[in-house]
This record gives sequence, structure tokens and C-alpha cells, in this order.
Amino acid sequence: MAATEAELHLAHVLPLGSRIDARGHLEVGGCDAVELAREFGTPAYVYAEDDLRARARAYVDALRARHDDFDVLFASKAFPCTAAYRLFAAEGIACDVASGGELALALRGGFDPARIYLHGNAKSLEELAEAIDAGVGHVVLDSFMDIDRLERVAGERGVRQAVLIRVTPGVAGRTHAAISTGQADSKFGFGMDDARRAIERLRGSDSLDLQGLHMHIGSQLLSLDAYRPAVEAIATLGDFPVYNLGGGLGVAYTAEQRPPSIEQYVQVQVDAANELLGRGRKLLIEPGRSLVANACVTLYTVQTVKRNVSTWVGVDGGMSDNLRPMLYGSVYEAFLADRADRAGAGETCQVAGKHCESGDVIVRGVPLDDPKPGDVLVTPATGAYGHAMANNYNGIPRPPVIFCKDGDARVVVRRETYEDLAARDV
Ligand code: LLP
Repeated sequence: MAATEAELHLAHVLPLGSRIDARGHLEVGGCDAVELAREFGTPAYVYAEDDLRARARAYVDALRARHDDFDVLFASKAFPCTAAYRLFAAEGIACDVASGGELALALRGGFDPARIYLHGNAKSLEELAEAIDAGVGHVVLDSFMDIDRLERVAGERGVRQAVLIRVTPGVAGRTHAAISTGQADSKFGFGMDDARRAIERLRGSDSLDLQGLHMHIGSQLLSLDAYRPAVEAIATLGDFPVYNLGGGLGVAYTAEQRPPSIEQYVQVQVDAANELLGRGRKLLIEPGRSLVANACVTLYTVQTVKRNVSTWVGVDGGMSDNLRPMLYGSVYEAFLADRADRAGAGETCQVAGKHCESGDVIVRGVPLDDPKPGDVLVTPATGAYGHAMANNYNGIPRPPVIFCKDGDARVVVRRETYEDLAARDV
């Protein structure tokens, strides 16, 4: 069957393998979105499992074609869900964790501890101990106090721990200020001068084994321009066997956005590394968003339609399942699951969440085809930092996570219940 115009327009925003069937219904991982909503309720995060796997493979293939010694780390903050850890561990990639909680989930998901990397600007002594006791591959050091504390914890255990130093190269990726991290005045990492001192400091350490440098200059980067100058900056800090160049590749949230491909991103990183850091270094990259964002759509049910100055389409979720529009002004597409062939057509609407504040608007100014209560509304590209940042504002139980593959759907995280809301009461 020929692809519909809507299908072509949104193909790069939707999970790989999505299609619009003969009735105009959206299909994700071979499953009809309208039926998924009926079976599992809404809101729900629906992932195409094959998409997650394909993107992990794309990263590995892109690196393998260009560089000998490398590892791809799943930046698990983007989607800290046991089933995702399990899937990426089975795909053979490594893992970046930013807390003891993410470490526990990564271990539960089956990652080899030696291929887990711990980050964080304010790691607790307990988290450092958990990481060392688990046998994590690297701890990424973020401050002089972090060095002192890890040295103490490793020393007490008689362990020599491999570490990287996180450097803020003084080059900021162009993105929302809240997720730009490369600038000198950052809560993350060592500035260039401090990095030199930290490197010296670690040369004399018995318990910490400095293997290399780490940088992460920002997230949702739609231009690759900042990477080379950043690598140029860290190249002045000396010669190391390992370099972690971070994550940050942006994704398409809307039809208009055309981010660089995984191959283009890897090419820029590998070229910069080979030319500026020297050949034969071990390269680590840690994508989060670009591994998982487009693998998922959120399904909502329309509850009310109100027309005043705008047309307000009220749905059964909002800032409890997707904080990104409120935190970063992020934009999304929206369309109705059973009229997916009409995506991009209809009356201009504001898709409003059900939370008690005016800022709780998920998508602004999106055309919808005569929305009515009971319609299933789809927002694509919610796979990164959606489930991760979900919350219980207004006592809304958090949505389930559903994995779809070849027409079969399975719940990997169940919907919260009202009992869950009181589960920690004492
Ligand atoms: N490595 C480090 C050290 C990071 O801090 C991050 C993201 C990544 C890797 C992965 O970056 P990615 O490939 O996902 O861009 N909540 C925000 C995003 C925060 C990103 C934090 N760090 C959002 O929803 O846009």
C-alpha cells in the first residue's frame, strides 16, 4: 500500500516501522494504537521494541565502521526502566548511570558491572560505595571533593578504581539553557584550569586510576558544530587512552525538525577524536535521547473540548507524564489515533493536560480533525525523559510502559494504582 501523506510527513518522528492502516489507524510495532488504548487504558507510553534495538545497532555499526576501540553507553537517565536496561544489555551495549538508583536498575537489568559508568555532580558516599562494591567500570569524577571522597571510599576497600575526569571545555552546545552543559560556569565537571590540577592531583593517587577524560556539552543538539571545538579544547589537557565524548544528539519532535543522523554524529566525533586526540584511543559515547525518544508515542484519551478564544482539547494526562513542554518549552506533534491519515489537518487546537495550572499545555496550536471526547490522541517522540520525569502531581497514577513488537503488546511497567499513591505512608 502506498504511504499516506501524513505517514510520509511524520515518518521520521514516529517509531521505526509505524504505519497507518487502511482504516486510517496508527500502528506501532504492528499494534493498532486505538486497540492498545482500549486494552491498556490511557495515558500510556507505547514503545516499538524494534526501534530501540535498531538505534542501538545503528550506533554500534556506525562506530564499528569508523573506529576500532569503542563502546556505546546507554545514557539511562533518558529511560530508566528495567525492560529497557534488559533490552540494551542484550544488545551488547554499555550503560551510563547518574545515581545509585539507576545503578541498581542497570544491575537488575543485567548489565555487566564492568560496563557501567557512574556519573554525577553530587554523588553521595553511599553511592560511591555502591558503585565500587558493584565493580563499575569507571566512575566519572566531577569535582575535587568528588576525588577526595572516592579516594577515601576506594582506599578503605583496598580497591584501585578506574576513573575519568569530566571536563567542561568552555564550549556550549546550542540548546535550551537548562540542558546546555559545556560552558565554563557549570555545575558539572572541571573547568579547563581545574581539569589540569585534577589531572596532576590524580597522578599521585594510589586508589584512583585516571584513564581519561569525559565531556558532555549539552542535549538535544540539532547542530554538530560545537563538538570539534570542544574536542580541540580537551586535547590540550594531555594524552589519555580513553575519551568519553558524551551524548547530546538531538531528535525530531516535530515534522520540521531534521536532526543529523546517527552516522553523521558518529563521523564528527570519530574524525575529531582521530585528528585531535590521536589514533587508537578508546572512544566512548553515551547517547540517551537519540536511542529512545522516537521509539515511543504517548496515547491519551480526549475528555473535553472547550471553545473560547482557543479550542482547548483536554486529555487525561499532562505534566505528570510529560514535563518537557513546561520545563523547556518543548514542542510536540499531536493527532488522533483513528484519523492518523488526517494528521496535520483540521481546527487549530491547544492540547491541555488535566493538571491544576495554566502552564499544563502539552501541545500548542496543533491542527486536529474534529476532536471529540473518547478520541485517542497521540503525541509522538515521548520515549526520552517522559517516563523518566513522570510524577504524581494532582494524585495522577503514572502511566504504564508498553512494548510492542510484530503485533504483540506487553506491559513492562504497569500503571500505578491509587494504592501505590499511598504505598509509602507509615
Ligand atoms: N551523558 C551525560 C553526562 C549527560 O548528562 C547526559 C544527559 C547524557 C549523556 C545523555 O544526553 P542525551 O543523548 O540524552 O542528550 N531532561 C532533559 C534532558 C537532560 C539531559 C541530561 N543529561 C530533557 O528532557 O530534555
